[in-house]
Amino acid sequence: MLRRLSKEQPASFEFTPANLDWARAQMTKYPEGRQASAVIPILWRAQEQEGWLSRPAIEYVGNLLGMPYIRVLEVATFYFMFQLQPIGKVAHIQICGTTTCMICGAEDLIRVCREKISPEAHGISADGRFSWEEVECLGACANAPMIQIGKDFYEDLTAEKLSALIDGLADGSVPVPGSQTGRFSSEPVTGLTSLVETKGGSERNASVAEALRVGDTIKRIDGTEVPILTKWKQGANQTTAPDAAKLEEKPAEKPAEAAAPTAAAPAPVASEGTRPAGLEGARDGKADDLKLIKGVGPKLEALLNSLGFWHFDQIAAWTADELAWVDSNLEGFHGRASRDEWVKQADLLAKGGETEFSRRAEKDGIYD
Ligand code: FES
Repeated sequence: MLRRLSKEQPASFEFTPANLDWARAQMTKYPEGRQASAVIPILWRAQEQEGWLSRPAIEYVGNLLGMPYIRVLEVATFYFMFQLQPIGKVAHIQICGTTTCMICGAEDLIRVCREKISPEAHGISADGRFSWEEVECLGACANAPMIQIGKDFYEDLTAEKLSALIDGLADGSVPVPGSQTGRFSSEPVTGLTSLVETKGGSERNASVAEALRVGDTIKRIDGTEVPILTKWKQGANQTTAPDAAKLEEKPAEKPAEAAAPTAAAPAPVASEGTRPAGLEGARDGKADDLKLIKGVGPKLEALLNSLGFWHFDQIAAWTADELAWVDSNLEGFHGRASRDEWVKQADLLAKGGETEFSRRAEKDGIYD
């Protein structure tokens, strides 16, 4: 199935302050230079806030994580959990249509959605509150047929039960997720014959109990509703995430402050080799685009600038001893300068030549 961005797009996207705080806290889980690892939870948060992922939301996340937009788009279009077009304001129903669910009645559930919501998948109901789609196996085959709404599964469904569930949602009631026939989890429908006692005598499994504790299984997330990983929050302010005001900047653009080292310039940490001479700022205020060197992304370019390197000819002039110093000072990227032969690449670029990478990067705006 082709997954493309919707033709209808909002003008902009911005996290709520609480969600931005949450996102920055997520980024502190990863080593410096590896913030892109947070792309899936942060995209998911954006979707929870807006209901779906718009192009502005994808670009916002790219700016937040210092990732080229195309990389974020690749993730968003790969995973079916990300909705690329507007969905119903109350619920988007994902019906599992894979083998077990199909055998146990998924087609009946799809018929209900066609009748009650929209004749076609991804259509939105006339009142704008519901939408639906068929998805592949969601991993609850023992409780087939089933659907997912938001984070929750509704299992052991029949056409009548799904119809009542949609009616309940339309009336504003909050459904109880999990098995709709009262199974605790995925035990035999005839009941347990061993290990019959549940921990603490709970009537609900942990997933259902937590959904009920939160109190609203379908509401949108604004960052204030759950205890949001507070143990990460202390580190949130140490992240290199850009200010909200800077989020409009594209990651591939030169940093605006290129004329002088920033106050946050990292201190050299290694003693290997000899530090090459650096400059206070770019000559004539015009830095070379160091991202044309394979292996230098926006973050490493900023790091190089902060260490005093702004031009290809500076890098081309590094001796082996100086290269060793740079390699050991590329926090999170140790050894990359040697591995990607920056000196050789920079020498070519300084002489007005090009590398295969720089040619591609200039043409497509794609940086490593
Ligand atoms: S087949 Fe439907 S959850 Fe696996």
